[in-house]
Amino acid sequence: MRILFYDAKNYDKDSFQSTLENFPGIEIEYIKSDLDPRTAALAEGFDAVCAFVSSDVSARTLTILHQHKVGAVLMRCAGFNNVDLSKAKELNIRVMCVPGYSPEAVAEHAMALALVANRRLHKAYNKVRENDFSLSGLMGFNFYQKTAGIIGTGKIGAAMCRICHGFGMNVIAYDVYENPALKDFVTYKSLDEVLAESDLLSLHCPLLDTTRHMINIDSIRKMKDGVILVNTSRGGLVKTDDLVEGIRMKKFAGVGLDVYEEETNNVFEDRSEEILESSVTARLLSFPNVMITSHQGFFTREALEAIANTTLQNALDFEAGNPSTNDVK
Ligand SMILES: NC(=O)c1ccc[n+]([C@@H]2O[C@H](COP(=O)([O-])OP(=O)(O)OC[C@H]3O[C@@H](n4cnc5c(N)ncnc54)[C@H](O)[C@@H]3O)[C@@H](O)[C@H]2O)c1
Repeated sequence: MRILFYDAKNYDKDSFQSTLENFPGIEIEYIKSDLDPRTAALAEGFDAVCAFVSSDVSARTLTILHQHKVGAVLMRCAGFNNVDLSKAKELNIRVMCVPGYSPEAVAEHAMALALVANRRLHKAYNKVRENDFSLSGLMGFNFYQKTAGIIGTGKIGAAMCRICHGFGMNVIAYDVYENPALKDFVTYKSLDEVLAESDLLSLHCPLLDTTRHMINIDSIRKMKDGVILVNTSRGGLVKTDDLVEGIRMKKFAGVGLDVYEEETNNVFEDRSEEILESSVTARLLSFPNVMITSHQGFFTREALEAIANTTLQNALDFEAGNPSTNDVK
């Protein structure tokens, strides 16, 4: 079984090569180019391709893969919004993904962002480097006995509820479905109540038509003054212009973002030598209480191992013709 691995970064190679020891029948070739209609023909002679969130798995790409007898697209991520599933079905190309590899990885990053924004650790680090040992501008507040409001209590939101509970916080949540595993320490409330009562608000629901821009100027006005807002889910949940307005209104003690609108061209790229087409990060980072990272919530050793393991298991299931819960249809 031969897999062509697109958009390979060094850390991908490391995690897949060490996991490959447990999958002796599989051979992987890694290339730097991402999968798109121009690069799809490189998969000639491979049984499957391995792609990621940024790959272009459109109808054109799939048609070329089909012409070169590639039978499966193995997504090494949970999402598949970049795959034309109806075309894949028409061409009988199997699409598989890795749902929920390490919820704790993302939830721990969400809490890290909350702590950094609250205690201004990003500022403190730079101050001490400059021999400025003063504490001005660094005051935060205790999370202990404050209220954490978690929006979306699936796998990652549930992990965030457990972390906040461990901090001694009162945990409230909003979701369209209640998670029974959280009933002992989480109180479900309406979205408006969660917005109004939380000292720390963390977003963990998917980006859907119904959730796009759920954080806008109206919802921001409903929040407590001095709230900390964290988004590790999808940038489109927050209307950036309204967030900027809310920050200017001094609504937030801190804002921590691992995702933001217009991030697509930036994610995982070193663009330090370029003039960027959008000023959204610069605008947000001009505020002292904003901390931004670039979609690294998932990026832990454990998560990468889990991604590699499940992707290679998916490859075996494809080869054997076994059905799998990781099939995307
Ligand atoms: N930053 C990262 O690196 C990273 C990595 C993985 C996932 N994510 C993001 O995290 C999100 C959550 O992932 P997950 O694995 O916990 O997903 P999940 O499917 O387990 O949970 C999502 C939860 O959101 C709830 N939900 C749906 N619509 C809602 C609404 N309108 N209001 C409130 N809740 C709603 C669902 O009922 C579900 O409980 C993903 O959608 C993804 O965008 C980010």
